[in-house]
Amino acid sequence: MSSGIDRRSLLLLAGAGVAGAAVSSPAAAATTVFQHGVASGDPTPGGILLWTRVTVESPGPAATVQWQIAADASFSAVIRSGAVLTGPERDYTVKADVDGLAAGTTYWYRFGLGGTWSPTGRTMTAPAASDAITRLRMGVVSCANWEAGYFAAYRHLAARGDLNLVVHLGDYLYEYGSGEFDAGGTVVRATKPAGETLTLADYRTRHAQYKTDPDLQALHASVPWIITWDDHEVANDMWSGGAENHTPGAEGDFAARVAAARQAYAEWMPVRLAEDGHIYRRLRYGTLLELSMLDLRTYRSVQTSGAGADDEDRTITGAAQMSWLLDGLTTSTAAWKLVGNPVMISRLDVGALPAWLLGPLGELIGVPSNGLVLNADQWDGYNADRERLVDTLRAHRTRDVVFLTGDIHTSWASELTTRDTGPATPAAAEFVVPSVTSDNINDFLGTSPGGPLSVLAASLIRATNPHVKWVETDGHGFGVLEVTTTRCRMDWYHLADRTKRDTSARWVQGWSVGRGSSKIRKESAPSGNA
Ligand SMILES: [Fe+2]
Repeated sequence: MSSGIDRRSLLLLAGAGVAGAAVSSPAAAATTVFQHGVASGDPTPGGILLWTRVTVESPGPAATVQWQIAADASFSAVIRSGAVLTGPERDYTVKADVDGLAAGTTYWYRFGLGGTWSPTGRTMTAPAASDAITRLRMGVVSCANWEAGYFAAYRHLAARGDLNLVVHLGDYLYEYGSGEFDAGGTVVRATKPAGETLTLADYRTRHAQYKTDPDLQALHASVPWIITWDDHEVANDMWSGGAENHTPGAEGDFAARVAAARQAYAEWMPVRLAEDGHIYRRLRYGTLLELSMLDLRTYRSVQTSGAGADDEDRTITGAAQMSWLLDGLTTSTAAWKLVGNPVMISRLDVGALPAWLLGPLGELIGVPSNGLVLNADQWDGYNADRERLVDTLRAHRTRDVVFLTGDIHTSWASELTTRDTGPATPAAAEFVVPSVTSDNINDFLGTSPGGPLSVLAASLIRATNPHVKWVETDGHGFGVLEVTTTRCRMDWYHLADRTKRDTSARWVQGWSVGRGSSKIRKESAPSGNA
């Protein structure tokens, strides 16, 4: 394959686009040229962002990649088509932000280069803002660590066939060098590059490796994703001016590292960044829901291990994002206001928990190693912002707010309260999904899943935190959120063994919240299509 597309191939592709005929494309060629799969994201009522990456044999200055969107999987009726120029300056990634489509409609899409077509992806535009849709179902995931296992959670979600979208809450990849964060001390599969990602080339290599995973590719190709980032897309416990896992000097300038990570992210992820580069953004699905995706890393103050958690001047969102969030939640006309929230907002009082639990719990939530009773990396470390948010929801009588959360690698169903309000009048519900593969409590403890220590850990957490209605500390897997006009329900599924690619998944628990109430309720059986 030449670096650029030759004139004859361009004509062939153009002809195929007009006539709607498929270009001959042996499977081997498709997996060579399009070895990182296809993806779509950020649906709007008439638009969708399409993504792929091309692998060229002799990297040159530019390649023109065709794209097609059709109303059927055989591409007999191509609705829209076009071409995108890519090259080494964007690591041969391709993004086509397509508009002019019908709202609330399923489409198939593919890319072409040099006579080879990519695998076909399936996607859906969002319904019109005024469309009174009554049901939506989405996969909810976070924390997929390559070295800790296989992405079977993605495979099970892809196989369902009943999802409208996937929401990814961050830690789509991890920055660590090989052996630094794996499956409880065992590297299931080695990461590339072998060292920690520091440079643009490092981050591009890491993104490229993750995008070769067949289960990840399958889920990207089956539904649009709406994605935000957390810390590990750059470095552990990132804040606006640094990160726990960044050593200035030895690992270079932090701002340069963030710029490299951000560029690779913009290139490799099917995310529509705002013109000013903001990752936080809001998407709408008819009158049923709005989804505000947060960026809790770019603007936050440094984590603190002391009384600074109550400091009015410290922030987890930054002033502009907080005002955008509050405005969006309090003025929304959607039935449900969902928040894609990378780190847990529910309080977690760890003061009464024993040292054996604080150790592994601290690994997950950022408790300083000296055992201070503060979850420095979650909203707990930024009380002023949390109280600002809760107070505003109350002042505006804003209801039907549900936080969808990742980061902590464990499964939680909670009601959002503050120290002042108590448990009787929660302001919102929070559903926390487990990690796809990343270590959790029993992995840190070195015990079996569901063992006595884990059972004790869950009961201790609940006893100290009555607003936490359910917590499970050992399962890896995913959530499925079903939103209807009357109810918002999360179902949790856990994997039998994250280190096995073909592992099974089982339903473990379901919790729901009804319209007009922020009290959550346990469901006794899987939802209809589970
Ligand atoms: Fe994580």
